[in-house]
Amino acid sequence: MNVFKEFFELPAEDKAGIYSEDLKRPCRLYTSSSNYDHENVHLWRDNLRHPCHPLEDCIKIWPLKPTRYREIVATYSIEAKKLGLRILELLSEGLGLGSGFFGDKLSDSLLLSVNHYPPCPDPSLTLGVSRHCDPNLLTILHQGDVYGLQVFKDGEWIGVEPLHNAFVVNIGHQLQIISNNKLKSAEHRAVTNSRVARTTVAFFINPSDDCVIEPDKSLIDTDESPAYKPFQFKEFLLNYSSLMGNPEKCLEPFELHA
Ligand code: OGA
Ligand code: NI
Repeated sequence: MNVFKEFFELPAEDKAGIYSEDLKRPCRLYTSSSNYDHENVHLWRDNLRHPCHPLEDCIKIWPLKPTRYREIVATYSIEAKKLGLRILELLSEGLGLGSGFFGDKLSDSLLLSVNHYPPCPDPSLTLGVSRHCDPNLLTILHQGDVYGLQVFKDGEWIGVEPLHNAFVVNIGHQLQIISNNKLKSAEHRAVTNSRVARTTVAFFINPSDDCVIEPDKSLIDTDESPAYKPFQFKEFLLNYSSLMGNPEKCLEPFELHA
């Protein structure tokens, strides 16, 4: 957490080289969403993101400052991956799928996404991150010690208070689809506050781009039909970003209606 906070506290000159609105740049820092010029409302956050797998290749494009960044984040990403895969293994067991079901291509792509929400003069005017479900398989979120995360449940936004040294684990859209809606991805957002900066670290476990996602046959009950048609993960991402993660709309093109 300290190394990420130090990154955002670096002088602007040190961060300028990594700042980019080009979605194709794998390691970049940007403000608000990936669509700053065309969004209706700007979000009160900066975001640093980069891939973490395969580590030997990715690490070369990570930030050089703070000097300990690469070493510390490499160690963190290895541990976060282990934790994520272990949780996926338990979910797989719980669903009655075989061991290793979520290994290989379904969890092949790892992305680190670090949010920095500076104190906001008027938190009623904007959000840190607008409502969405994570588009991936699973998220391991470290939200630090400052409140800001909310989850939508039974028609209202409920605060997810930070627990010291605890992770928030989010089920992503892909896990919902593969489980034919047995697991639900929770809608969430981040609010800002006017007192202190908030830094959060999301570790996203994603399928590889060309991985075909569909409800697993063994999870479709005999009185059910598949709720989604097969698609490539990259098709989902393309649609997700064009809809800015709108939770009502982003599953629609992939849904099948019995
Ligand atoms: C995210 C996210 C919440 C937070 O990065 O997908 O939902 O509290 N972050 O920063
Ligand atoms: Ni999220």
